[in-house]
Amino acid sequence: MRASEPNGGSAIFRRSTPAGVFRTTIRAAFAAMALPVLAVELPPPDRLESEAGVPAQTVEVVEPHTSSPGHELRVSYRGFGMAGLLSRLFGERWKAPGTEVVFFARDGYRSSTDSGRFLAASAWLAFGRADGKPFTVDNPSQHESDVALGPYYLIWDNLHDPVARAQGTYGWPYQVVRIDLATPADYAAARPQDADPAATEGFEHAKNYCLTCHRVAGIGGEKFPADLREISRPLGDEALKSWIIEPQKMRPGTAMPPLDALLPETERNRIADAIIRYLRAPAMDITRP
Ligand code: HEC
Repeated sequence: MRASEPNGGSAIFRRSTPAGVFRTTIRAAFAAMALPVLAVELPPPDRLESEAGVPAQTVEVVEPHTSSPGHELRVSYRGFGMAGLLSRLFGERWKAPGTEVVFFARDGYRSSTDSGRFLAASAWLAFGRADGKPFTVDNPSQHESDVALGPYYLIWDNLHDPVARAQGTYGWPYQVVRIDLATPADYAAARPQDADPAATEGFEHAKNYCLTCHRVAGIGGEKFPADLREISRPLGDEALKSWIIEPQKMRPGTAMPPLDALLPETERNRIADAIIRYLRAPAMDITRP
């Protein structure tokens, strides 16, 4: 509860308007859905449970950060079902085709998922472990151990859903503090200008694999928020590809992880080439009529 908030409410909702973003309270937001809620700063779990009216559940998953093929570690978490939670936070608008659900972490990491995935698969916003052990995980791909997962950690039913299993750790952001909805229009400035299909494909890959930490035209994560086109420019294609596929080779000990190591080598090469094509393509001029 923030004393400075008007009407004594809890400041967890932010509504985006053309004039900017302002904060409101969860009850005020539910009371007056006049303006669409597009961003929610998450309150602590007990308040989310009582104010949004979503029950916490216990779910078992294969913990993808610490599991490897042939070595499965199962963990039971406590969390809120995502589909129900999204409807409580945003109304039904999150289901509109093309909408993305964007998770922001405390350190600026940004993870976006097509909202259709939350209709097709089961996901939960976890806030603790069911066995009461510390809510932490090791993240070998980023050379981190005992990483705090809270306040929230997005988990998927990868026990029963092979698509979720194949995702590995992708789409499992932790330290989540905020959820936004994004539409294709929000990405306009970062799209490649040409109708070059390789650049367009590269843009989609960059969204998944790079804009989580970096930004293009102001769109993306804030973990290493330098403009990705700018920082790529001094590098030749070969060096840029090495940064994408084996950053450790370029700078030992770097915090930048390699492109999804679960993918076959040919696929990683193809994705890296497409991303490079995108980064070298002329930028979209959104001022054009
Ligand atoms: C988890 C966060 C993260 C992701 C995902 C990520 N990067 Fe990085 N990137 C970093 C960090 C951190 C650095 C700074 C590295 C350093 O100085 O050790 C960096 C640095 C870079 C650099 C600058 C290299 C230089 O000359 O200093 C480039 C280019 C780059 N990243 C490209 C990419 C591309 C392309 C992708 C997507 C395939 C990507 N990054 C994905 C975190 C990330």
